[in-house]
Amino acid sequence: PNLEKEFLPMYFGWFLNRKTSENLRKIGQAFLDELGSSKAFKKESKHFAPAIEDPKLKIDLTSYFVKRPPSVLHCTTKYTDFGKAPGAEEYAQQEAVKAAYGKAFTLTISALFITTKTAGARVDLSDQDLLLWPSDVDKIQPTDNLPKGSRAHITLGCASGIEAVQTGFDLLEFVKMEKAGNKGDEVGEIGGGKLQYFGNGMWMLLLSKKIEVKAIFTGYYG
Ligand code: 2AM
Repeated sequence: PNLEKEFLPMYFGWFLNRKTSENLRKIGQAFLDELGSSKAFKKESKHFAPAIEDPKLKIDLTSYFVKRPPSVLHCTTKYTDFGKAPGAEEYAQQEAVKAAYGKAFTLTISALFITTKTAGARVDLSDQDLLLWPSDVDKIQPTDNLPKGSRAHITLGCASGIEAVQTGFDLLEFVKMEKAGNKGDEVGEIGGGKLQYFGNGMWMLLLSKKIEVKAIFTGYYG
């Protein structure tokens, strides 16, 4: 298909189906529940609830990340803003994008993470997936030089007042720390993998068994 300039979507991405979305949401919930009641997290819970002094009180992370994606879960490739975003047209015109439009992919989720702003799933892109990944999105500062696909994620939730675009920037913060040699403090195992703490309320669960989900590459029109 030829996506005409006047009809570009709000964004392109890989979209899970209903059932897989529900499953991944549940996996995310279970992670938040278990993390919120873990000793390691309680010791550091001040980042999430400065007012709560009693460390025995469980932080309800599920209600902390109050803003959830409204429809099926997805991994954004390019935010085109109906054609208004920089590079929107160039992206939509790429042969790889046109060829993949409406096709099924398998995405690999390798980790779950939270910060004080967002909760997300980290997506490891295959070489084939990377063909659809824009070249200009894996940076916070213009001078950042991170591997292509570093930002790939599925937003699971945002704290009050935070927009979903933040999740990718939060993941990039983790990647920058990893790149600088900071692998986080290993604070034990919780359901599904090894829990790492990077400070400042930044937690990552490395899944011992990666999750594979089928997803359709297409555009979202809102
Ligand atoms: P997300 O990919 O981190 O979830 C609708 O807002 C979708 O487009 C969300 O999925 C959101 O973030 C993504 N999005 C919004 N603004 C964006 C931007 N400027 N750059 C990249 N993705 C954006």
